Amino acid sequence: MSSSFVSKPLVSVYVLAMVAMQLPFMQSVLSLNQTNEYLNHICIKGEGTAKGSSYEGSVRRVIDHMSTTDLDYGFVNGAGSDGPTKIYAKIQCRADASESKCRTCVATAFSEIRRKCPNHKGRIIWYDNCLLDISSIYTLGEIDYRHIFNMYNTKDVSGNTMMFNKKTRALLYALKEKAISKKELPYRRDYLYSAGEESLGTTKLYAMVQCTKDLTAKNCSVCLDWIMAKLPKCCNGKQGGRVLTPSCNFRYELYPFVKT
Ligand SMILES: *[C@@H]1O[C@H](CO)[C@@H](O)[C@H](O)[C@H]1NC(C)=O
Ligand SMILES: *[C@@H]1O[C@H](CO)[C@@H](O)[C@H](O)[C@H]1NC(C)=O
Repeated sequence: MSSSFVSKPLVSVYVLAMVAMQLPFMQSVLSLNQTNEYLNHICIKGEGTAKGSSYEGSVRRVIDHMSTTDLDYGFVNGAGSDGPTKIYAKIQCRADASESKCRTCVATAFSEIRRKCPNHKGRIIWYDNCLLDISSIYTLGEIDYRHIFNMYNTKDVSGNTMMFNKKTRALLYALKEKAISKKELPYRRDYLYSAGEESLGTTKLYAMVQCTKDLTAKNCSVCLDWIMAKLPKCCNGKQGGRVLTPSCNFRYELYPFVKT
C-alpha cells in the first residue's frame, strides 16, 4: 500500500493541493492497491427518488434475480418495475474476477448503494471487481457520457515523463485494439476486455481496458477513445491512473493488479 500513503509532510501538502485542484471536476481517490476496493458511487439526482416503501423491495427483487443467474460470464442485465417506475440494472465484473468474487462484489455493491442512495431511481457504484448500475431509463448498449471520474497513483514517475506517457498511451491503445477484436467470442468473460504489460527497461508497465458487454465492439472503441483522451488531464506523469464510467474503464500501474 505504499502508493497510497505519503509520509513526508512537504509531500503531503503537495498531494492535498493536487487533490483539491482536481475535486471540482473529477473525483480522485488516493488508494489504488487493495483487492476489491470501493472506488466511487453516484446518486443520480436527475432521475429523482421513488416515493413509498415498496420501491426498494422491487429493486431488490431485480438484483436478486440477476444474482441467481450464471455470473461466470461476468455480465448480466435485468429489468423490473415498481408501479409506473421502471427499473433497469446492469452488472459488469472485471474479467479476471472469478464467479464467486463477482457474486460477492455484487452483493457488497448492492447493500452499499442502497445505503448511500436510498430510493434513488438512478444510482451507480464502482468497485475494483464490479460495477452496478441501476436506472429508471433504458440505456442498454449506449455509452454513458455523463458519469465519469478518475483516480491516480500519488507517486510521480521518475525520469522521462513524456516517454512514460507515450508508452502508457501506446499500451492502452494496443489493449483497446485487442479488446475490440474479440468479436467472435461474445460469450467469454474476457470479451471487450484486455490486459497486458510492457517493459520499461528495469520496470514494467501493467494495464487493462474493459467495456461493459452490452456495448458493441464499435461503441467499446468509441468509449475507450473518449476516456483515453483524458489521460493527460487525469494522470500526467503519475505511476498509475484510471478513468472510469458506467460503460468503459482503463487502468495502468507499475505493478501487476489483475490476475492473468
Ligand atoms: C500492489 O499490489 C501488488 C499485488 O498485490 C504488489 O505486488 C505491489 O507491491 C503493490 N504495490 C504497491 C505500490 O503497494
Ligand atoms: C452506440 O452508442 C450510441 C451512443 O450512446 C448509441 O446511441 C447507439 O445506439 C450505440 N450503437 C449501437 C449499435 O448499439
